[in-house]
Amino acid sequence: MNIGIDRLSFYSSHYYLDLKTLAEARSVEADKYYIGIGQEKMAIPAPDEDVVTLAASAAYPLMKEGELENVELLLFATESGIDQSKAAGIYVHSLLEMSPRCRTVELKQACYSATAGIQLAVGFVARNPDKKALVIASDIARYELGSPGEATQGCGAVAILISADPRLVSIEPECGYYTEDVMDFWRPNYRSEALVDGKYSTTVYIHALLESWKQYAELSGRGLGDFDRFCYHIPFTKMAEKAHRKLCRKCKTDVGDEQMQTLLGESLLYSRITGNCYSGSMYVGLCSLLDNAEEDLAGKRIGLYSYGSGCVGEFFSGVVQPGYRDFVYADQHRNLLANRTELTYQQYEDIFNYGVPTDGGEYVFPQYKTGPFRFSGISQHKREYESLVD
Ligand code: HMG
Repeated sequence: MNIGIDRLSFYSSHYYLDLKTLAEARSVEADKYYIGIGQEKMAIPAPDEDVVTLAASAAYPLMKEGELENVELLLFATESGIDQSKAAGIYVHSLLEMSPRCRTVELKQACYSATAGIQLAVGFVARNPDKKALVIASDIARYELGSPGEATQGCGAVAILISADPRLVSIEPECGYYTEDVMDFWRPNYRSEALVDGKYSTTVYIHALLESWKQYAELSGRGLGDFDRFCYHIPFTKMAEKAHRKLCRKCKTDVGDEQMQTLLGESLLYSRITGNCYSGSMYVGLCSLLDNAEEDLAGKRIGLYSYGSGCVGEFFSGVVQPGYRDFVYADQHRNLLANRTELTYQQYEDIFNYGVPTDGGEYVFPQYKTGPFRFSGISQHKREYESLVD
């Protein structure tokens, strides 16, 4: 049975900081960010956005089109959890008015968990071919002000509908996956910013890629020449390019700049101007590729590498389906990204420091520009959300 990604919708905040503004504040050359790490802008969440509103806004176009009616599994992937007990997906389930006959759960393994969600969802659909599963990856990437990771912050969510006979990408059965206990990036419960051993994290990312690829290649019998495009986890776009070069070197395959641009370029466009959104990052890359590929990708195979620090890596693949262009949300994605508000450095720092109050008090949050849903306040230790649509 053909199972895979039926719809794919991306949402990010309405505010961004240009990295040249950050470069000026940090007294470094803008090219360190623009060229060195391959990032131009980072999406900054408004104080009344959180992983719930980002996620519900990403899935809203699916709801509007009636695509969520047959969904009986909702998997919410995040490492920016808002509660130690209740799954953030339950708030999203409510905002999207989904059927009560639904299994809803939150998944965590750094940036990897959406891929675990997709593989679980594929298993669910194999057993229930007339049902669908919704995987939502939603995160806010935060590092300390002035730290090396700061320029790689970002935020966003991706809603991924998994079904039989998918209209976008069928997922192939072979997967290579790899787990190792390492401390390259982590966020203890008492911190709102991640701790990271930056350089080390890039070497672990690549090690897990090579191990995952080795298994995938053995199981599938495929080589790099069997792929038309690649989507990598994108903490910053240079990382994806570096990883692909390493993989090519390992496979004794030459890759020139032009070929690199063909294989990866279109998948990096959105991340370059939104930044890392952790669990959703690779799927933002897939959205970017499907929305922006000049060539019709129908029938083309895409290599997918998902990585989550700590660490788990997985290499798998998908084949783009005929007619996929009629089912992407390219115009909505482009509109959202083209109509964001640029922040000054001071506005960025103010929003960064705003934080969600943790003293158990009663709060009503000011209204900023958001999508169809907003995080309106806290009352009696309960988060409150508001729908801005009828
Ligand atoms: P850094 O150490 O400040 O940067 O931060 P750098 O000094 O290494 O410079 C970066 C690059 O810019 C270098 O190029 C410089 O040469 C170049 P490279 O040697 O790497 O090719 N450069 C310039 N280029 C042009 N013009 C200039 C200029 N100046 C310098 N003027 C670091 C880099 C990655 C450490 C930092 O961004 C960081 O800590 N990031 C966060 C961690 C991260 O993203 N790791 C990636 C792998 S782990 C992962 O992906 C998982 C993750 O998403 C979390 C999860 O799973 O939950 C992070």
